[in-house]
Amino acid sequence: MKDTPRYKNPALPVQERVNDLLARMTLHEKVMQLNQRPIGEDSNPNNASTWTEFDPLLGSVLSFFGGVDARNAYQRVAMEQTRLGIPIIWGFDVIYGYKHIFPIPLAQASAFSPKLVQDIVANSAVEARNETGVDLVFAPMCEVCRDPRWGRVMESYGEDTWLVSKLTEASVRGVAQASPNMSACLKHFCGYSASMGGRDYHATEIPDLAMRETYLPPFEAGVKAGAKVIMSSFNTLNGIPAVRHRGLLNDILRGEWHFPGFVVADCLAVAQLQDQGFTADAEKQATAALSAGNDMDMVSLVYLALEKAVQEGRIQEALLDTAVAHVLTVKFELGLFEHPYIEEPLPFPAPDLAKLAMDSALKTAVLLENRHETLPVPPGLRKIALVGPAAADCSVYIGGWAVVAKATREYTTTLRDEISTYFPGADIAYSRGCGFLAEDGDDEAIAAAVQAAAKSEVIFAALGERGNMSGEYRSRANLGLPGRQLKLLEALRKTGKPLVVLLFTGRPLCLQEVADNCDALLLLWENGFRGAAAAWELVTGKATPSGKLPMSFPRVVGQIPCHYNQRPSCRSLKENFQAEYIDLEEGPQYPFGHGLSYTAFGYDDLHIAKTGDGFRAEVTVTNTGKRPGQETVIWYLGDPEADIVQPQWKVIGAGQVALAPGEKQTVGLDILPDRDLAYPDATGRRQLEPGRFILNASRRCQAEFWL
Ligand code: NOJ
Repeated sequence: MKDTPRYKNPALPVQERVNDLLARMTLHEKVMQLNQRPIGEDSNPNNASTWTEFDPLLGSVLSFFGGVDARNAYQRVAMEQTRLGIPIIWGFDVIYGYKHIFPIPLAQASAFSPKLVQDIVANSAVEARNETGVDLVFAPMCEVCRDPRWGRVMESYGEDTWLVSKLTEASVRGVAQASPNMSACLKHFCGYSASMGGRDYHATEIPDLAMRETYLPPFEAGVKAGAKVIMSSFNTLNGIPAVRHRGLLNDILRGEWHFPGFVVADCLAVAQLQDQGFTADAEKQATAALSAGNDMDMVSLVYLALEKAVQEGRIQEALLDTAVAHVLTVKFELGLFEHPYIEEPLPFPAPDLAKLAMDSALKTAVLLENRHETLPVPPGLRKIALVGPAAADCSVYIGGWAVVAKATREYTTTLRDEISTYFPGADIAYSRGCGFLAEDGDDEAIAAAVQAAAKSEVIFAALGERGNMSGEYRSRANLGLPGRQLKLLEALRKTGKPLVVLLFTGRPLCLQEVADNCDALLLLWENGFRGAAAAWELVTGKATPSGKLPMSFPRVVGQIPCHYNQRPSCRSLKENFQAEYIDLEEGPQYPFGHGLSYTAFGYDDLHIAKTGDGFRAEVTVTNTGKRPGQETVIWYLGDPEADIVQPQWKVIGAGQVALAPGEKQTVGLDILPDRDLAYPDATGRRQLEPGRFILNASRRCQAEFWL
């Protein structure tokens, strides 16, 4: 024991172990700690990396899904056949499941439930660790997203800063719950979601005030919740590439938030400084990123240039040491030196993954339209038509980011597979009608589908986006139903039969024509491996929809941005009102917070009382309909007399009640002035102004109060 190096002694403080190890490392060993690479071929095709040999000195490996034994064998080389035995940290995109796929994050946000997010994340992290030894989960993507043209909105928790922050915390906790040896990685820092026109990888221009109000708070919440790693983003932010943005990486992250972990650049982002018009010189790219505060480089190997730069005195070794110390700190804190291998499989927090998947798919569905109480459908239907390209396509349940599940698809069933369980004995006419692309299908196929459907008592049209139409590098300029699907729907409408659209999508779509051509519209998102069964549970009334939109659905693309929390126009008051567009109805088709139920809820008696440290608001919610149901009360704050004009509304809380018909319950909210009523200026300083505030419950009732 006497000769054991101090860094190997778990009883010593992390800082001491880091210092001891750092003092023993050669320049080359330090540089290698700052590199993250795949082994073999990267599982994420967008990462565009070629075949890579394994180097046991690497700081981190990403995207490896070769199984626990292979992972352990590689790790053993790092531990036993290198001079210092530094464990590698293994990162993977566990975005909403590993092999068992759950609803996409944007869908998860519709449940307004941090617990649901934590459950999904914890179980997915356990599966990823048991299957292939993941230490670092590249999620949550805690960017606030306000442009549905950007395909990556599916990875996000939507347009509202409060909701994104709460669900980010839950996700960070979920990974930690899976194992103390794992961490979440918050991404992408920062501003990537606001890329110009929703075009992936493009530049971002965000005023400092908007950064402070909207984009930074979820990251701060994630850091406070214990995320040990942050991924810096691809984009330039106001002219400065994020990977070399000292203001973000140094001043805010380290200076203001005291982040102790490490920052890893997104894939190839350091090398892409060339595309962004900074420099093609690898050494300059590396030194600029490192000195701004970007510790690790993903994939590009540009950081290898740092070795010579230090040797020849163009950059100080101390800078390198700081970055290496950040990486080692995380490895020590996660216990990787003591537990470098995956030994016993971890227990799943939810022993029944199918139940969790079903539960989450039920809670994340959003009922957008339900005319003449078309849903739930009456029992005893004898003739049913199931039409549309999504009815038998696995991809619509697993979405674009199900890296491993995409290859196996072993657990996922489709609407077509499940329908007969829910309508036993019924005569079911299935027909695809058309594909997802314009060239996939013709008028004859549509006519055949209509002919089959015309004999049914109800038509279910399974429509939407194919799983690979949203996600990374999947921006869309048109947000209607892709391909010939609207044509198919219009033709089905002509049958006069009750028509239910079951909608699968990874992003908000423009649904005006869809809404006009159906009786009921049930948004299922990309809802995981039990998503098809969950859809039929909802359709048949075995469960009642309760999801609310976490992101507004525009009427047309030209209306974007149309998120709910914008600043008021100078002609927004009733007596001075001016329409937004001369050729479009006011507001989005379905705003943030929209979501119907099979029952109805009354809101009464909203009152606000002063308490010792703030205010307590309460509202009474009554189930006025005929079925049990769950209601989410969304609390919006209005600050109509502020020095810096505030968004007309901003969410400051949400609460949920499950009510039997006729039952009522009070839902409360504690308002803390510093947390809920203060707002930041462009430097992040928060100010609290006395005056009048408005509290609104789910856009159903509101009351004023004074600070
Ligand atoms: C690029 C993506 O932007 C990021 O989200 C992902 O985690 C990495 N590649 C690793 O696959």
